[in-house]
Amino acid sequence: MYRVPMYINGEFVESTGNSWFPVFDPSTEDTIAEVPDGNATDVELAVKAARQAFDGGDWPQATAQHRGRLLFKLADYIRQQSAQLSELESRNSGKPITEAEFDVSDTATCFEYYGGMATKVLGHVNPVPDNALSLSLREPVGVTGQIIPWNYPLAMAAWKLAPALAAGCCCVLKPAEQTPLTILELAKSFEEIGFPKGVINIVTGFGETAGAPLVAHPDVDKVAFTGSAAVGKLILRSAAESIKRVTLELGGKSPNIFFADSDFEAAVDGALFGIFINQGEVCSAGSRILVERSIYSKFVEAMAAKAKTIKLGPPLDRETKMGPLVSREQYDRVRSYQEIGKGEAKLVAGGGRFESAAKGFYVEPTIFADVDNRAQIAREEIFGPVAAVIPFDGESEAIRIANDTPYGLAAAVWSRDIFRALRVVKAVRAGVVWVNHMQPTYVEAPWGGYKQSGFGRELGPWGIEEYLETKQVHINLSEQPIGWY
Ligand code: NAI
Ligand code: MG
Repeated sequence: MYRVPMYINGEFVESTGNSWFPVFDPSTEDTIAEVPDGNATDVELAVKAARQAFDGGDWPQATAQHRGRLLFKLADYIRQQSAQLSELESRNSGKPITEAEFDVSDTATCFEYYGGMATKVLGHVNPVPDNALSLSLREPVGVTGQIIPWNYPLAMAAWKLAPALAAGCCCVLKPAEQTPLTILELAKSFEEIGFPKGVINIVTGFGETAGAPLVAHPDVDKVAFTGSAAVGKLILRSAAESIKRVTLELGGKSPNIFFADSDFEAAVDGALFGIFINQGEVCSAGSRILVERSIYSKFVEAMAAKAKTIKLGPPLDRETKMGPLVSREQYDRVRSYQEIGKGEAKLVAGGGRFESAAKGFYVEPTIFADVDNRAQIAREEIFGPVAAVIPFDGESEAIRIANDTPYGLAAAVWSRDIFRALRVVKAVRAGVVWVNHMQPTYVEAPWGGYKQSGFGRELGPWGIEEYLETKQVHINLSEQPIGWY
């Protein structure tokens, strides 16, 4: 067990409250480290450091080329440290090592993408009628507070840090209390790479004691949040006080829609992958599986049979396809939904703890069939390996059920009829729609939700937009008096 300090103003520090909290390995339930229990005073120090780095011009006035180069260097460092970072990510979050390796590679790609974009932020010349030159300049928003969840710890940090840094913003990032280790490990490289102090600050701590003061802080210009809808609402309310810019990514209850003409094998596989990847702890999880009536029974049977073959085990075992859930709290939540489901629908796979593991927060991949879309397991985000399979008759019913949810993050549709697939794509109210696939995410393409899944987009050129202001500049080209007086 070791103590890992947090990173404020270029220094590794403990909390001003001198208090630490434990971080666990969810596969053994052992404490693997302690991190500072950051509080409002620590947040104050971090925001002050970020403010100084921003207002003093260290970062926003560094050339875009320079900012970009540092992001490339960071990406190189991540690739060099890939084995170590992946192992730490896997141990701390419970995700299979093979998935952690994929995430770490994606993290590096994200820094590379925005490293390149730093020099491609363009202004405009506006066609005004007067004898003038009218420009739009793009400028960094300022100091950003970034609050991230535990399901993709390093990748979520990259999605927020990379575009912000490319834009010239300074950052105070609060990792989830369950999974702070990989970003703190990465922070060891920041000084050597050349980030001026205060440009990136990592404050560890809990939501109410470290997250809330960051959101409320009047010197924070923008808050970017990924997490639960409940906390998203709190953040929006708190941010109103100082009219902060806010972007929210709040998860969902995403439909994965299967028409009878889809490739059966690929479809069954896609249904399982859509919900069970990362133990189901995925904001875009295909947790409502809508299946056309004519293939419904066969589909449910095939899914259930295949789900039973998914290999659960220690996250560091390369054969493992599903590890434990991230925490006891999440385990209890998912277990309670498994019980709720038993009263609402027909259990066809899993339904309990994975008992072959002596310890750890393992739950079985669980499938409920004949689910009514009004059931609690079809309406509420479970954020674990629990699928609700719902039959439908025809395209319009599929669309109606798909859209009958307060959420709108993602959806997928499976069909070999391209016209039907595209009609469904257009009819579904969601920010991300896959056809004949579900889950792959690309740093080049926009990510974010409709409806109560939040607003704002991450990744691609959209991601950097959220960290830029637009300034209109009007230059009078006539040296004459304007002739009013
Ligand atoms: P959460 O929304 O409480 O936590 C996410 C982040 O927000 C963490 O860094 C946390 O410390 C911070 N936070 C919590 N309360 C805060 C507050 N009052 N002010 C500022 N920051 C605050 O999520 P939690 O409790 O870990 O999981 C609960 C449920 O949320 C999950 O079962 C899942 O349904 C959903 N969730 C969705 C995610 C997504 O990717 N959209 C990610 C994580 C959770
Ligand atoms: Mg919470």
